[in-house]
Amino acid sequence: MVIIRKVAELLDFVGLRKEQGEKIGLVPTMGALHEGHLSLVERAVKENPCVIASVFVNPTQFNNANDLATYPRKEEEDFRLLAQAGVTAVFAPSVEEMYPGGPENQTRHEFDLGTAAEVMEGKFRPGHFQGVAQVVSLLFRLCRPDRAYFGEKDFQQIAVIRNMIRTEGIDVDIIACPIKRADDGLALSSRNALLTEAQRAIAPEIYKTLKYSVEYSKEHDVRATHHTVVEHLNSQPELEVEYFEIVDARTLLPVEEWDESPWIVGCITVYCGKVRLIDNITYRKPESC
Ligand code: PAF
Repeated sequence: MVIIRKVAELLDFVGLRKEQGEKIGLVPTMGALHEGHLSLVERAVKENPCVIASVFVNPTQFNNANDLATYPRKEEEDFRLLAQAGVTAVFAPSVEEMYPGGPENQTRHEFDLGTAAEVMEGKFRPGHFQGVAQVVSLLFRLCRPDRAYFGEKDFQQIAVIRNMIRTEGIDVDIIACPIKRADDGLALSSRNALLTEAQRAIAPEIYKTLKYSVEYSKEHDVRATHHTVVEHLNSQPELEVEYFEIVDARTLLPVEEWDESPWIVGCITVYCGKVRLIDNITYRKPESC
């Protein structure tokens, strides 16, 4: 596995692969890799002769300085895991390399991300999706991938990135990969490493409650299902729901009735102590999706 730190070096690497007619798979990450990331890598390795994984904690998508400062980093271990998984190259640039002169001095390009970027994460983390679009579009321009792999834990992020490639005219297949969970159901996340032992013990309640709500939704309306999830989680020690939205999976706009859309998901963000955890669950989904 080649470790690439510089943009110029990456451009040469990609140019050579393209000349050889190789398909390129890209797995963008912010490092602190876990089984969830590795499942994306595994799929990318199966589907592409050349796989680039990026490891870059992108400052422009954090709207909270403390969140950025405490974001877990373990580069050496990440590189070891990526090499073992069969990645061709890892791109791990510095902030200066990605944003010469500093992130604040970049020409501001306002991405048209549609209404999907305005709700949920968009509402609670202003600017977050503009930052995601900025770094992902840059990675797409540099790596020129045929396919890019993202985890469905960040369900809204995938919808926003799909909007971004459409409005920016970027030609890449976005491959959405299923959420990976710990044995107790907690969605794998780099942030789980920040949980205390007591918080880690209570965090699986999030998925347990979502799963229970799918059964509950068969006998109850949307409003009651929403209520039961929020009430139950907020009654647990350490947990506080930031938002829980039951939405149309394509528009990400809230639904009021179960028959309003063929594909309905519940997206949730819960604070476990100070750690912000996200998850989602499918209530209704057509066979074809
Ligand atoms: O999902 C993530 O880890 C990040 O948002 C991404 C896509 C790597 C962009 O920084």
